[in-house]
Amino acid sequence: MHVVHAIRSTLQEFFDGINPARALAPSSLGRLLHWRQWLRFAGTFERLNALFVPLIEERRRRSKCGGFHSYVDSLLELQVPDDDDTTTTNDQISALAWEFLGAGTWTVVSTIEWTLAHLIIQPEIQKKLYQDVAGDDVVLTEEQLRRFPYLRAVMLESLRLHPSVPFMIRDAAGPEAAKACGPKALATLLPSMSIKDIGWNRDAWTSPEKFIPERFLAGGEGEHVSPIPGSKEIKMMPFGAGRRSCPGAGLGMLHIKMFLAALVREFEWAPLAHDGGSEIDLKEQNGFFKVMQTPLRARITPRHNK
Ligand code: HEM
Repeated sequence: MHVVHAIRSTLQEFFDGINPARALAPSSLGRLLHWRQWLRFAGTFERLNALFVPLIEERRRRSKCGGFHSYVDSLLELQVPDDDDTTTTNDQISALAWEFLGAGTWTVVSTIEWTLAHLIIQPEIQKKLYQDVAGDDVVLTEEQLRRFPYLRAVMLESLRLHPSVPFMIRDAAGPEAAKACGPKALATLLPSMSIKDIGWNRDAWTSPEKFIPERFLAGGEGEHVSPIPGSKEIKMMPFGAGRRSCPGAGLGMLHIKMFLAALVREFEWAPLAHDGGSEIDLKEQNGFFKVMQTPLRARITPRHNK
């Protein structure tokens, strides 16, 4: 448990540090004046490596004993065509595990948080979603999730309105930046296209600033719109587009649907204040990533008690 907390706080430190680090990255003077802050940010990978490598080593020893096949096990089995040695190194596995945890968790959590906020503000949508997903199965399978059209519509509307990564990156600041790696490289990336502007385009969507999942149901203006753009018209692209688009899109959407279905099946979500007054603030944090500025607080009631 101690290690899980340490990993969590190191990742949190990274997310908190990325905005100040982006301000410091282009200025040598800035980095000199705030060297402590810069070095701390730049050392994130080393600190994560120190936490991950003993766990990877342990798994290397145990993988021959069989049992549960984890993500790290699949990386241990990978053959990397390199100079002499084809086995994956601890550093490579650590970088992939951190990418998985870094890119694949907060994006999903943030989408769920925005969605729940809308379900509280618009209880009629929550009611429809509950009717869609209600049931007694303890475990939801991928196959079952495909039978919930309203759940899919709610998720797509949330991804359109609140893309957690609001831009695509195809450039870095200066030739030196191209040689940087790790957190330093991330601090020098230049947003090149706004993903959010596409999903909020007035010519493509009716009242784009409103949360209306129905637009993704049969007959709606978004019925045939895919979150992963094909070769035709692009009306939203929460996972980017082209060769560098998000490799975790399928997994991300599966996680969003699974969590949302379970959270709405099990609990009724309401504003914290009993008078129904909503203190939910839909402002975005002014930074690199678009999370809620004021984290969601809600009153939840188990449905089976009602
Ligand atoms: C709601 C969930 C998610 C959203 C909205 C999201 C969004 C994005 C976006 C917009 C990009 C940049 C794409 C581009 O520049 O064209 C990206 C890249 C990436 N995502 Fe996701 N993502 C999500 C979930 C995940 C998950 C679950 C994983 C892994 C398990 C993941 C791993 C990555 C990685 C590794 C990249 C970098 C790809 C590259 O640079 O080639 N993402 N994601």
